[in-house]
Amino acid sequence: MVLITLEGIDGSGKSTLFASLKHTLSDLRPVFTREPGSTWIGEQVRRAIAEEVDPVTEALLFAADHAAHLETVIRPALARGAPVISDRYTDSRYAYQWATLEGILPDPLAWLRAVHDGWTIPPDHTLLLVLPVEVALSRKIKAGKKEHFEEAPLLARVQEHYLHLAGEDPSRFVVMDAEKGEEELASFAEHVIREWCESSRSRRRR
Ligand code: TYD
Repeated sequence: MVLITLEGIDGSGKSTLFASLKHTLSDLRPVFTREPGSTWIGEQVRRAIAEEVDPVTEALLFAADHAAHLETVIRPALARGAPVISDRYTDSRYAYQWATLEGILPDPLAWLRAVHDGWTIPPDHTLLLVLPVEVALSRKIKAGKKEHFEEAPLLARVQEHYLHLAGEDPSRFVVMDAEKGEEELASFAEHVIREWCESSRSRRRR
């Protein structure tokens, strides 16, 4: 069926958009899921984030969480024909861990891709929320929530990486201006996701 992912830096409004889609797309009966944290391995990832483990360990834990997510949620849902919508997915690793592994590995993106190669399932479509880093950070500060990823220079690199990935694969990515109003973003996302689900259904009927 169809695998759709939502991506963006912290404070991009991704989780708000995800919550709204859960409501507006419920008639399509999609599987709504997320990374990290759809299995117990996600708890270890959260611990690793909180304790600021070394970046290679952290990257491998995120990848382990992804492997478990694929086996327990993504593959079974796709096999029974359900659309899957995931709040973060492999591009989060490519964008964030590319940044955290810079200076540690010679080519973090190539390494991250090699780690996923052969077993991950690439998304069919990805909605990427983009906004100025200062705006994203001010939203997080207002909400009183900040993790170690949420420093301006790191988030700026992460967003550059997302835009690089989108530039490499323009037919998969839809880049959204996250400074637009919540309702406008939600209705645009709902509309494109309905189209993707419909065209995947008609492909299956043929
Ligand atoms: P999460 O709590 O889900 O944050 P958000 O609500 O912003 O999506 O994710 C925790 C942090 O983990 C977030 O800063 C993004 C980061 N992250 C990675 O660095 N690599 C990854 O592969 C994933 C899935 C998340």
